[in-house]
Amino acid sequence: MADSLLRVLTCGSVDDGKSTLIGRLLFECGSIPDDTMLALERDSKRFGTTGGAIDYALLVDGLEAEREQGVTIDVAYRFFETPRRRFILADTPGHQQYTRNMATGASNSDLAILLVDARNGLLNQTRRHAAIASLLGIKSLVLAVNKMDLVGFDQTVFDGIVAGFEALRGRLGELSVTAIPICARDGDNVTTSSARMPWYSGETLLSVLEKAEPPSRAEFQPARFPVQYVNRPDQSFRGYTGTVATGTIRVGDVLTNAVSRTEAKVARIVTMDGDLNEAQAGHPVTLVLDREIDVSRGDVLAADPLPAQADQINAWVVWMDETPLFRGRAYQFMLGTKSVVGTVTDIVNRLDVETLQEVGVRELALNEIGRVAISLSHPVACEPYSDSRDLGGFILVDRLTQGTVGAGMIVEVRSGRTNVQWHRLDVDKAARAALKHQKPAVLWFTGLSGAGKSTIANLVEKQLLALGRHSMTLDGDNVRHGLNRDLGFSEADRVENIRRIAEVAKLFVEAGLIVLVSFISPYRNERMLARDCVEDGEFLEIFVDTPVEECSRRDPKGLYQKAYAGQIQNFTGVSAPYEAPLNPEIRLPTLDASPEVLADRVIADLRRRGILD
Ligand code: ADX
Repeated sequence: MADSLLRVLTCGSVDDGKSTLIGRLLFECGSIPDDTMLALERDSKRFGTTGGAIDYALLVDGLEAEREQGVTIDVAYRFFETPRRRFILADTPGHQQYTRNMATGASNSDLAILLVDARNGLLNQTRRHAAIASLLGIKSLVLAVNKMDLVGFDQTVFDGIVAGFEALRGRLGELSVTAIPICARDGDNVTTSSARMPWYSGETLLSVLEKAEPPSRAEFQPARFPVQYVNRPDQSFRGYTGTVATGTIRVGDVLTNAVSRTEAKVARIVTMDGDLNEAQAGHPVTLVLDREIDVSRGDVLAADPLPAQADQINAWVVWMDETPLFRGRAYQFMLGTKSVVGTVTDIVNRLDVETLQEVGVRELALNEIGRVAISLSHPVACEPYSDSRDLGGFILVDRLTQGTVGAGMIVEVRSGRTNVQWHRLDVDKAARAALKHQKPAVLWFTGLSGAGKSTIANLVEKQLLALGRHSMTLDGDNVRHGLNRDLGFSEADRVENIRRIAEVAKLFVEAGLIVLVSFISPYRNERMLARDCVEDGEFLEIFVDTPVEECSRRDPKGLYQKAYAGQIQNFTGVSAPYEAPLNPEIRLPTLDASPEVLADRVIADLRRRGILD
């Protein structure tokens, strides 16, 4: 263990003194070259907050921009060593909105140092960070109570903070906690015991770091190789490139594609520097197998015991987007190199960071942590996060903005649909459509309430009928009287409203019908989901484009008047958002033409696309 590596995460709120502590550790462990020390002395006079004395925080807040703003803004890794051990420090910012960086930095750390400002005591942020560290499987935590000099090295202050933290202990899983009173600026209890706190008889921070037990290393776990890409420069070579996530892979080992469950032997392990006989966790290599099996990007080649192939998972999610997480909404689910569509089917609980208890909720807001159920469009090779950080950690990405909106840790894998087989029916969509001599399609009318969606859809359907076409209309107001009578107009309910209708529209397409859907459907995300439910070319987004001023002037149901009077909440266009289509197949500007003319336009467009002949 003497020269083992320990990955340490440092976290805390702004101004807790994290940078100073890290700078101190680097300095005292001799990791700072002389010229850097000179620059540090100079910079301390210019930017420092220590009145000209050396400001160790400046060593760490390396970027000029950061220095001038006085905040740390990204996860940074720093290396240092003592005669006993090597360390990698991941430094995460303390801002509330950077919980995400904390989750990223924490995911491969062995121990966390959680800084608390002795003057402020435990903050919500401190509790949140402790909770995330515990969820991410960190086993040891050092509660470093900093700035003891500013509370007169008072033992009662320290004891009070420790007692406050003890109260949370039961809720932090197996986390072992060591509390140390320190003054990072002057070095008290950092690497040497403090003469100013004789009442503290415990170890110094560095000594705790040196003695901490590292968790069992990835090399000893079963082999897992997520395929980053299929390497096929010519006909004669076919290899799979990626990094060994866990375990050791040797030439001759049998590996199984965890998703397709086909197996082959490792014929070669190719690297830039020649072939290897074996590759361990962390090594980037290209594997050549002894026979062709079906493997594509994102698949996992694995040794026994194989990981699950799941299409349903339960997971903790740290939410990182301004727009809350809703039940029913679909995201890009990215686990390693695999990317599928993940629909949130349930939000089970939210972790209350004050008490670390779970409370029932319907949505997760920015920085909240919750337990959710996610249904995946395709089975994915995965494992609970507690078994494998590589196959158990994932991110959720917004499918429109491509921004990362959540970081997740799998708690439980289930293969719900795997046991519910899809029946191939002898009479299929093509047969049903052929009988009707038509091509099925979804005509998805979207627009504000009162925009004219139903009016135009009704005219289009009359023409379809006259042309001998078989159709069906799904209308928002009508469906809300039946199938969706349990739903209101909150964002979460609208998401669910559209999800159900997208599925129903898909069933009608399977029946060979031309389906006219007339819902406000205010969110791009769910319209995209509806589009994905059917085949390419079968979905036409028709934007009934009427400005809100005109809708409220027409006000056919008197609802705008009520909305403006505050008698209806969450009214689209007034007190709830409408995300206009960016690239609809058809746009119908109702200010410029009558409903009849616009309906004719839709029919003409259907002819042009070959949906009508
Ligand atoms: S959607 O937003 O979930 O797609 P949907 O099309 O089903 O809405 O229902 C919209 C209809 O419900 C409107 O045409 C209007 O008649 C009625 N309605 C009642 N309350 C609201 C509201 N708060 N916002 C919008 N429409 C409402």
